[in-house]
Formats: sequence, structure tokens, C-alpha cells
Amino acid sequence: MSEGAESAALAELAKRRGFFFGSSEAYGGVGGFYTYGPQGAALKSNVEEAWRDRFAVQEGNLEIEAPTIMPEPVFEASGHLDGFDDMLVECAECGESHRADHLIEDNSPLEDAETLSPEEAAEKISDLGLVCPNCGAELAGQSVEEFNLMFATNIGPGSKSPGYLRPETAQGIFVEFPRIKEYARNRLPFGVTQIGRAYRNEISPRKNIVRTREFTQAELEQFIDPERDEPDLSSVEDIEVRLYPATEQQADDGDYVDTTIGDAVEEGIVANGWIGYFLGIAQEWYEDVGVDMERFRFRQHLPGELAHYAADCWDAESEVDGDWIEIAGFAYRGDYDLSKHAEHADDDFTVFQQYDEPKTVERAVVDPDMATLGPEFGAQAGDVADALETLAQRDPDAFDADEVTLDIDGEEVTVDTDVANFAVETQTEAGEHITPHVVEPSFGVDRTVYTLLAHAYERDEVDGEDRTFLSLSPTVAPTNVGVFPLVSNVDELVELADDVAEELRAAGFAVVYDDSGSIGRRYRRQDEVGTPFCVTIDRDGIESEGDTTVTIRERDSGRQVRVPVDDLVETFVGLRAGTTSFDDVLDANEVVEA
Ligand code: GAP
Repeated sequence: MSEGAESAALAELAKRRGFFFGSSEAYGGVGGFYTYGPQGAALKSNVEEAWRDRFAVQEGNLEIEAPTIMPEPVFEASGHLDGFDDMLVECAECGESHRADHLIEDNSPLEDAETLSPEEAAEKISDLGLVCPNCGAELAGQSVEEFNLMFATNIGPGSKSPGYLRPETAQGIFVEFPRIKEYARNRLPFGVTQIGRAYRNEISPRKNIVRTREFTQAELEQFIDPERDEPDLSSVEDIEVRLYPATEQQADDGDYVDTTIGDAVEEGIVANGWIGYFLGIAQEWYEDVGVDMERFRFRQHLPGELAHYAADCWDAESEVDGDWIEIAGFAYRGDYDLSKHAEHADDDFTVFQQYDEPKTVERAVVDPDMATLGPEFGAQAGDVADALETLAQRDPDAFDADEVTLDIDGEEVTVDTDVANFAVETQTEAGEHITPHVVEPSFGVDRTVYTLLAHAYERDEVDGEDRTFLSLSPTVAPTNVGVFPLVSNVDELVELADDVAEELRAAGFAVVYDDSGSIGRRYRRQDEVGTPFCVTIDRDGIESEGDTTVTIRERDSGRQVRVPVDDLVETFVGLRAGTTSFDDVLDANEVVEA
């Protein structure tokens, strides 16, 4: 399909068949907000469930659900109020806002315009002679400003308590760390997941659900002791991945590195073992849910592209319409978040790590003589005692002199060292408090849904007619099985079809019952929404000797097989889980020739 055509065809299908559409259209619509229709809501929920199973349940992690609105101090601490900006350029003619870096990337070979400063971006816009995509007016000479993406609100009446809609679910996890660590019994490493809404006041939302102002993230915060905790790579080391490291992106003849997770970590292409581990399981998960791995890669962030909290980051990217879309980020956040919250909040964001063996250490201590400090310094005596304590930790040699100079609230004071009662004591320590580091796989659920739909969108010809179908994986398809009585005016067929639908629903399958129109049209309807299998109930199956049988038709190939009705649930359990293939079902039963 030509560039852009894939997205356009998908958007049309998505709206017509109820995957997603612009929200509040009855009121003229609002940019960057989408509603998932019945098909889309089911698909998205299945994607979330598959993610939860792989990244929370299978990994033995803890899942939480925090509020989406948080008070201002959270985001002062996290750095989002200061640093969570995009570059905005406004058209002087029509007033339309544009993201400066996207305009530059769309109109030049530059792929990392995000790394430019606002001044450099403004210069680039002038040099390239860029015009407003809305009205065509020249943008040269327009200034480029930093625009903060946070949605602000007030908590309760008045403006005393400003709050913000969270721009990432992660902050809900970091802020609750002092409590969550107790549930993890204070033992590192442990992981905490959250699936939920995040909000960003994007300057120019685009590509329907790819860049929206309200979206769903599935995030995992893995808390580790960087000195001690190593991931077990044995289960992922042989997984093959396509990597696009920063050095290759910067080289003139840079190329992908096709390698395994084991080699990538060993050779330092992926510097952190934990990131390597998560790239491995993500690669497998994306494949399981139906991403076309020929249109998938992991790309490392360029230095200027890193978020304010990240020391290293790899993105999972999928290709749609010739563009690469970031669908997940895998960031090494270090101790940035927990340290910042420890600075700003009144709680303990550390974990006590027991040493393997108790350690004997020498500690500089002071025991200030308050009977002397009190009369001399009055109300400042406590601060002077604290300053002596701090100095003993920082510079014990200072106590070799007769007196020390301290800074008390900007004022220099001199204290006799005798008063400090300085000593070096030998102490036995069982462990230490450390601030855990964080490794974060952060998945965009909407972008995953979009990729799955785009990669599943196919066209072929059946019985001389054009067919559109979605080759969605049975794990995530919104409907698992279509059930059709071949004709709707034969009671026995309708009754059996009702029973089959009911039994499959009772076993947990999403079933669509359809008795209207020709069987071909019913198949086409299900093909278009990605239903992987349809069951047809006909006279032959009821009237033949032996077991009552029905036919199962596979969506992609159109192949059909006659199966005893009593085997249906078991067959579909295997097909949905991927433990049985349709070929296995064909081998074990009577194939129906087309
Ligand atoms: N906690 C880390 C974090 O939020 P991010 O790269 O800004 O990192 C993670 O976002 C993922 O969230 C992205 O890879 C993308 O899939 C999704 N995402 C971010 N902004 C989005 C938007 N405006 N619309 C839809 N999805 C978005």
C-alpha cells in the first residue's frame, strides 16, 4: 500500500466497524481525544490483559492503581513542571500551533530535531523556508518557545491546591514507594506495574490514536540495587533482536545490528543487563500479540533526545506507512525519581540492604557540649550542633585544628573544637540504606493497538470478490468466535447454534452470533474485525450418523474442518492460547474441501 494509504484505510475501517473514532464529534470534536468503540475497547482490553499476564503475573511483580490527578509538589519534585516541554512555533497569520521539531523532521532529512535548542530550531525553520501547514504562511522569523505539556487543574474549590493530570503512570508508583516497599518486604529487586491513563497537552496531536492528549500506558518500574542485582538472562539470551544503536544512527553508513540479547549485553551494545532482559521479553511479547517483526526494531536514544530522568533509553519502534512510531521506551532512570521525591517529600524512599557479613567501620562522631553552645549561640545552638555533625562526616580532619568555622544561615561562626567532643569510633554495621535504581519498560497501549491493526490489515480476493481482513492474533482479537446457523429458518440448527454460542461464552470466549445474510457475507463481516474463527452449524452435522459435528473456518486461509461439537471448547482453548495450531485441528479431523 502507498505511503499514508495504510493509515487512511485503517482510520476508515476503525470508524466504520467500531474500533476507534474522534470523541465528542456531536459537538464538533476535540483534537487528541479518541473513543474506542466496541471492537476497539475489546481489542485494547485484551492487549492490556496480555501485557498484565506477561509483565506483572509471569514476572511475579506487584500491580497497583493510583489516581490520575496528583498534587503540584509531586511534579515539582519529579521535574515535570520544569522540564516536560515540547517546542512550539505559532503561525503569525492563522494562529495555528505546531511542534517545531516535527515540522523540521517532516521537511528535512534531520531525524532528531528534538535535540535542537529553541533558538536552533527557529533558525532551522528559517533556513528551510518552512511554511505553516495550515495556511501556507511563512514561519521564518517566528520564535520557538518551550511549551509545558502538563494539564493543570485545581483540587477542590478555589486555587489553593493546584493539581495536575499525571503525564506518566510512573509517578503514581514512585510516590507510593515508601508503602509499596513494605509489601515487597523491603527486599530488592522487585517490580511494580501499573496500567492506566496518562495525559499530555500535546501541541499537535496526530495520526489518530498514535499521538493523543489522553492515552493509556502500561508501565513497569523495576527497583534494583545497582551494586548487587543482576537479571537472570538465561531465559532471554538467545532471543534475536534488531537493534539500532545511537552510534549507528550517527554514522554515515550506519546500519541495524541483528544480534541476540546475550551478545548485545556481553558486547556492551546494550549497556545494562536489565534493559537487555526487558528488550528480550518485550520482543517475544510483541511477536505473541501480533506485531510484524519485519516492521519492528529497538532504537537507542541519541544523547540529546534523553528525557530529563533517563541515563540510557531504547525505544521499541514499529513501522507504519513508512514512518517509525515509538511504541515503548526502556529507560534506565537511575535513582533520579526516588532521590527527588526523598528531597521534596517527608518520607523514606530508601531500602535497608543487609551486608552479606557485618562490616566494621570507623565513624567520625561529635557530641557537642550544649551547656557551652547554649549560652554562646542562643537560638542558633541547635543549628551549630547540626553543622558540627555534618562537618564531622564531610571533613573529619577539620577537627585537628583548635577551632572550626561554620556557616549558619549564611553567617560565619567560629567554634572551639573542644566543645564538639570529636572522636573516631569503631562501629559494626549490619547494612546500609540505599536509594534503589529504577529500570523502566514503558509501553503505550494505544500505539500497540494501532500497530496491531496496521500490521494485521490485509486484502485479498475470495471467490472473485475483494476481501479486507484483519489477521489479528487469537490472543487479542476482539471476538474469538463467530457462530452461525447456516440457515435461520430451521429450528434444530438455530437451537444448536444458540447452545454452541452459550457454551463458548460460558467458557470465557467472546462470541458473535450472526444469522443474517449469506454465509459469505457473515464471514466477511467477521474477517473485517479480525475474528480468527467462525463456526457454522449445518444439517449434515446434525443428521450424519455418530457425533454431531460443526465446521470451523479459519479467517486467514479460509480453510474449513468438521469437528465434533463436544470438542469445540477444548479446540478453541488451544487455538486461542497458541498451544494448538489450525493445522493440528485439520490433522485430527475431517477437512472440508472448499
Ligand atoms: N514513564 C516513561 C514515559 O512516559 P514516554 O516515552 O514519554 O516515557 C512511554 O512514554 C510510551 O507512552 C511511549 O513509548 C508511547 O508509546 C506512549 N505515549 C507517549 N506519549 C503519547 C501520546 N501523546 N499519545 C499516545 N501514546 C503516547
